[in-house]
Amino acid sequence: MSHAAPPPVVVPTIAECRRLVTEARASGKSIGFVPTMGALHDGHLRLIDACRRHCGFLVTSIFVNPTQFGPNEDYQRYPRTPDDDHRRCAEGGVDLIFEPTVAEMYPNGPTATFVEVPGLSSVLEGKSRPTHFRGVTTVVAKLFGIVQPDLAAFGRKDFQQLAVIARMVHDLNMPIRLLPVETHREADGLAMSSRNRYLSADQRRAAVVLSRALQTAAEAVASGERSADRVRQDLAQAIELEPLAQLDYAEVADAETLEPLDDLSAGRPAVALVAARFGDTRLIDNTLLPTVTSESSCN
Ligand code: PAJ
Repeated sequence: MSHAAPPPVVVPTIAECRRLVTEARASGKSIGFVPTMGALHDGHLRLIDACRRHCGFLVTSIFVNPTQFGPNEDYQRYPRTPDDDHRRCAEGGVDLIFEPTVAEMYPNGPTATFVEVPGLSSVLEGKSRPTHFRGVTTVVAKLFGIVQPDLAAFGRKDFQQLAVIARMVHDLNMPIRLLPVETHREADGLAMSSRNRYLSADQRRAAVVLSRALQTAAEAVASGERSADRVRQDLAQAIELEPLAQLDYAEVADAETLEPLDDLSAGRPAVALVAARFGDTRLIDNTLLPTVTSESSCN
C-alpha cells in the first residue's frame, strides 16, 4: 500500500504563505525553499529532492517574474503549465506552493527598491541582458522576505545566477543557507531547461553542441591544456561550426569572481560558460573545469 504524502497546498497570497510557513516553523520544522518560474522539469525536481532531504517543510514558488525579462524577451510566451507543475510538486513531496499573481508581487508596478549586485551582474549574461540580474535579485530578496527559509536550493545550470544570489545573501547578511544543485541533463547531454520546449526537432538536435563543446573543453584541460584563451577559442569554434547555433559568448572565467582567466595553472577554480541562440531560443550551459595545480602542469 502506498503512503502518498498529502498534495501540496497552493496559495496565491503573501499573507497565506506567511501564515502556513509560520505554523510549520512553530511546530519545529525547518523551512526549505525552491524558487522557480514553473514549467517544471526533472532539473527542478532535483532541487526539490535535494532540499527536501534537509528540511521539515518544503516550499516551492511558481512565479514568472516580469522584472527579470528584457523588453524583447520571452516573458509573454514563457511556458505556463500550472496543472503539470502542481502534479510534479506533489510527486516531489512539496508541502506548500506559493503561486502569486503579478499584482500580488508588484501591486504598484515594479518596486521602487532594487537589490543589485553590480560587477557580477554585468558580465556574461549581464552583457546580453543588462537588467536581468537586478530583476532576479530583487524578486529573490522579496521571496526570501516572504518565505523566510532556512535553506534555499539553486541550480548550477544558472551558474552566474547562483554566484549573484550567493553574493547578495552574503553582503546583506541574510540568514539563509544556499544549497547548490548539479545540472541535470537529457540523455544526450543537453542541460534541462524550461526553454528547451521552444526548440524545433532540428534545433533540439543541434543544441547538444553546447554540452559537447563544454565536455571537450573539460577533457582538454584534464589532459594538460593550460591556456584559457585556447579553451575559449575551441569552445567558440565548436559552437560556430553548428549551422543552427548563433554564438553569444564562450568564456573561461574564475568560478568565484567570474572574471576572465588567462592561465589555468594559477590555482583558481575555473568555469567554462556558453550561451547561444537556436532560432529565437537562447540557451546557456557551463561546466566547472578540472583543477590544475602548478605541479600537474609540469609534466
Ligand atoms: P527557473 O529557470 O524556473 O529555475 C529555477 C531553479 O531551477 C534555478 O535555481 C535553476 O538554476 C534550476 N534549474 C533549472 N534547470 C536546471 C537543471 N537542468 N538542473 C539543475 N537545476 C536547474 O532561475 C529561475 O527560475 C528564476 O531566475 C528564479 C530564481 C526563480 C527567480 O525568478
